Amino acid sequence: MEAHAIIEEVEARRAFRAISAEPVPEEVLRRMLEAAALAPSCGNNQPWRFVVAAGQEALAGLRAALTEGNSWARSAPLLIAALTKPSLDCRLDEGRDEALFGLGLACMNLMLQATREGLYAHPIAGFAPRKARAALGIPEDFVVAALVVCGYPGDPAALDERNRARESAPRERRPIEDFAFRERWPSA
Ligand SMILES: Cc1cc2nc3c(=O)[nH]c(=O)nc-3n(C[C@H](O)[C@H](O)[C@H](O)COP(=O)(O)O)c2cc1C
Repeated sequence: MEAHAIIEEVEARRAFRAISAEPVPEEVLRRMLEAAALAPSCGNNQPWRFVVAAGQEALAGLRAALTEGNSWARSAPLLIAALTKPSLDCRLDEGRDEALFGLGLACMNLMLQATREGLYAHPIAGFAPRKARAALGIPEDFVVAALVVCGYPGDPAALDERNRARESAPRERRPIEDFAFRERWPSA
């Protein structure tokens, strides 16, 4: 491996949309959830909860909840709803409800493991949470923060023109100096 290289899966993970309908094996899914469970959390509260939709009924319910812009996700054989609620984790001063932070860390672990397994794992917030909640029987007090759309790489030709172009577009990121500061918050 190249010295000082970025971790391979961190570099390789992308929010791809051309997803094949090929099912994801149970053992692969299990490793993704095991990776999620290894995330750090406040007081080891492990505030993440996931509802895995791989059966026809749950999938149909979630597909119906997708926004128009996320129609590409309909082909995916595996949708994972990522949820939590504040009472599952530390609730500290100055608005530090840590549950969403912990859920995000667990999701990232899950997505990196998926990448390692040769899957695409694409988080989306573009869905009707009420419909998703109803489809999966999720209680009202949970926040359904995202669906992670998972599956093996599919055929980009099946995508519409805009999404096809996005599959091979270069990644855009702010320069490090824009988001990370040394020693002190920058003065204006
Ligand atoms: C919380 C969250 C919500 C997102 N919602 C959507 C979405 O609704 N539809 C979509 O196509 N991508 C969605 N994305 C994916 C982002 O657009 C994508 O991660 C970002 O453009 C960076 O690209 P990359 O992941 O390929 O590096 C979402 C990502 C996150 C973390």
